[in-house]
Amino acid sequence: MLALNVYAERRSRIKALMPENSLAIVSAAREVIRNRDAEYPFRQSSDFWYLTGFTEPDAVLVFGPSQPDRLFVRPKNIEKEVWTGRRLGPDRVKMKLGIDEGYSLESFDAEFARLLPDVFWLEYPFNCLYSAELVDKALGAQMSHSRRHELLSHRVDLSRNLQLTRMIKSVEEMNVMREASRISARGHIEAMRTCEPGMTEDQLASIVEHSFRMQGSPSVAYQTIVAGGENACILHYIDRTDRLLSNDLVLIDAGCEIEGYAGDITRTLPVSGAFSGAQADIYDVVLGAQIDALSDMQVGMSIRSFHEAALRALTNGLIDLNIIDGPVEEALAEKRYRPYYMHGTGHFLGLDVHDVGIYEKNKEPIKLEAGMVITCEPGLYLSNRSAAPSPFRGIGVRIEDDVLITTAGPEVLTEEVPKTRTDVEALMRDA
Ligand code: GLY
Ligand code: MN
Ligand code: MN
Repeated sequence: MLALNVYAERRSRIKALMPENSLAIVSAAREVIRNRDAEYPFRQSSDFWYLTGFTEPDAVLVFGPSQPDRLFVRPKNIEKEVWTGRRLGPDRVKMKLGIDEGYSLESFDAEFARLLPDVFWLEYPFNCLYSAELVDKALGAQMSHSRRHELLSHRVDLSRNLQLTRMIKSVEEMNVMREASRISARGHIEAMRTCEPGMTEDQLASIVEHSFRMQGSPSVAYQTIVAGGENACILHYIDRTDRLLSNDLVLIDAGCEIEGYAGDITRTLPVSGAFSGAQADIYDVVLGAQIDALSDMQVGMSIRSFHEAALRALTNGLIDLNIIDGPVEEALAEKRYRPYYMHGTGHFLGLDVHDVGIYEKNKEPIKLEAGMVITCEPGLYLSNRSAAPSPFRGIGVRIEDDVLITTAGPEVLTEEVPKTRTDVEALMRDA
C-alpha cells in the first residue's frame, strides 16, 4: 500500500468538504461467488481503496469532520482464516492502516446507531450498493417518523467529492501510475518480441499478462484485448479464440494494475513483422492523429480539444485514402468519420480504467489541469461490413498511451512502447 499518511490526507480532504454534523459511510466491495465454494477474484471498491488502502472485503469506513475515523472489519476467526485467508482484525486497524479506531463488523449496527443521533447529513456514494444498503438498514431501525424523514432528506451523494478529488493525482499517485505504465509498457514490448503467426490470441495475451505478473503486478486492470485481423473492429473484443494470421494486424489493448492504479495501452502490430501497404496507410493516419491529439493535451486547453484534433486528422486521412468524401469541414460537420471512428479519444485513468472525473461543468467542457491522467487513443476500424474500399476492409488500428498533464506539457507515461511503424518492425525483427 501507499504511505499511511496518503490515505489519511485523502480522508481529511473529503472531510474538509463535508458540513458539520455529517457522517460518511463508504463500504468495501464484497466477494462474489462464481459457483459453490469458488469466488471471482476479489477487487476492492476503488473509492474505499482510495480512502483506506485496505484490500479485504466487507469492511466499512465511517468518518466525519468532527469524528474519529472508524473502520469496521471482519473479526479475527482462526477457523475461518484456515479456509479463506488471514484477516487483519479490528485490533490492528490503527497500527496497520493508521485509521483512528478499529471495530468488528459485528458491532456495526450498534455503533452506527450510537452515532446517528448527532448526525444531520448522511453522506455515502449513491452508486455503491453496499453503502446504500447499510444506510437503508440503519434508517430502518427504531426511530421516530419525523427523525427518519429528516435523515432521508439529508442524504448526500459522496461520489461527487470523491470524483473531484480522485481526478487530480497527487505526487504519490503520479509515481504509482508511472510504475503501472512502465510495467504495462514492458508487457507490450514482450508481446511485440514474441508475436508470430499461428499463435492464438489468447496465447499472446498470456505473454503480456505473464510479463505484468513477473514485474510484480498482481492483476490486469481490465480484461486483456488481443484482436487479430477484423476482430480489432470489435472495440471490447475479449473472446481471444482465433489464431493470428501472418497477413493480419493484431491489436493488443492491455494494462496492469499497481496498488489499484491502471495502465491502459494499445498497440497494433503486423503479425508477420511487416505492415502491408493498406495496413501502413491506416496505421499512419492513426499515428498522425495521436501525435496531433497529444500536442493538445496542455494545461488550460479544453478537454475536447485533443479529441477534435484527432477527429480532424482522422478525417483528413480518410479523405486522402478515398474512404470518405471531403472537403474536411463538411466531412467533420456531417461526422463522416463515424462509421470508422465511433469512440472518444481519451478518458480519465486512475483506480478505475475508465476513471471517475468530470468532463463538463455547467454544460461546458472542463479545462485540462496539472495532475490529470488521461488516455490518448485514436483508432480506425474498417470492418468487413463497412463501405471502405476492399483493400482496407478487415483492418482495425488503435494506438493508446497514458498521459499525465503537467505545466511543462504532456508527460507520456507509456512512451517506452514503440509506435512508429519503423520502430515496431525493428523491434519485431530484432527480437
Ligand atoms: N482498455 C479500455 C479502453 O481503452 O478504454
Ligand atoms: Mn483506454
Ligand atoms: Mn485501452
